[in-house]
Amino acid sequence: MRPTKQIYNNYTELDFLVWQTLFERQIKILKPIVSSAYLEALETVQFSSDKIPHFDEVAELLKPLTGWSMEVVPNISPQKTFFEFLSQKKFTATCWLRTMEQLDYLEEPDMFHDVFAHVPLLSNQTYVDFFKGISNIALKHIDNPKAIELLGRIYWFTIEFGLIKENDELKIYGAGIISSMGETKHCLSAQAIHLNFDVQTIFNTDFRTDILQVKYFVIESFQQLFDSLEEIEKLIEVSINNEQLKLH
Ligand SMILES: [Fe+2]
Repeated sequence: MRPTKQIYNNYTELDFLVWQTLFERQIKILKPIVSSAYLEALETVQFSSDKIPHFDEVAELLKPLTGWSMEVVPNISPQKTFFEFLSQKKFTATCWLRTMEQLDYLEEPDMFHDVFAHVPLLSNQTYVDFFKGISNIALKHIDNPKAIELLGRIYWFTIEFGLIKENDELKIYGAGIISSMGETKHCLSAQAIHLNFDVQTIFNTDFRTDILQVKYFVIESFQQLFDSLEEIEKLIEVSINNEQLKLH
């Protein structure tokens, strides 16, 4: 049974060792290739290799910046729960860690993914404004599977697997990349396809969750993401209307 509350004293020495091993290994690879916004955010939330983040302390740091916090969940949340919490500026996160044997692959996200990879950017106002915007659109259409599927693609190719251009160089900001050594090495390589961020193209792009990604979408800035919310909402409405027309 996975914990539903972070009880800090329950972390074992082995948990600390797993956190430290993953943190040190990833940060070494990430430093030259991750977005400067993420590196700054990592300092803002004061994450370090020798301390598993304490959720309440992180929330205190985020409070005056963006007001976001984490809501502990045992496993991945159902979509509705996930979006409902997001719209309340709460990011659902697990608080347990993988074992040493699972360092390189884990089927479900643990706190190294949820916390190390997702939480730092919750201190970035433009980024969270986009995040919240996505959840607002999702909640409006929560009972429409087509709309949720399309939003899922936006989420996947931005929050999870997004790349950003910084001084003409490709950098990583997606959490699915940040927490994965394999994905970190692959996403900027010649094997990966890099496309400019475009809402309609993303809506038309399917993805698989069980392999290294084939295509990555590149943004110019978080502001570009935020500015795309209007188009996302408009195109979702168009596609819902088209579906309804097909049914009649
Ligand atoms: Fe994630």
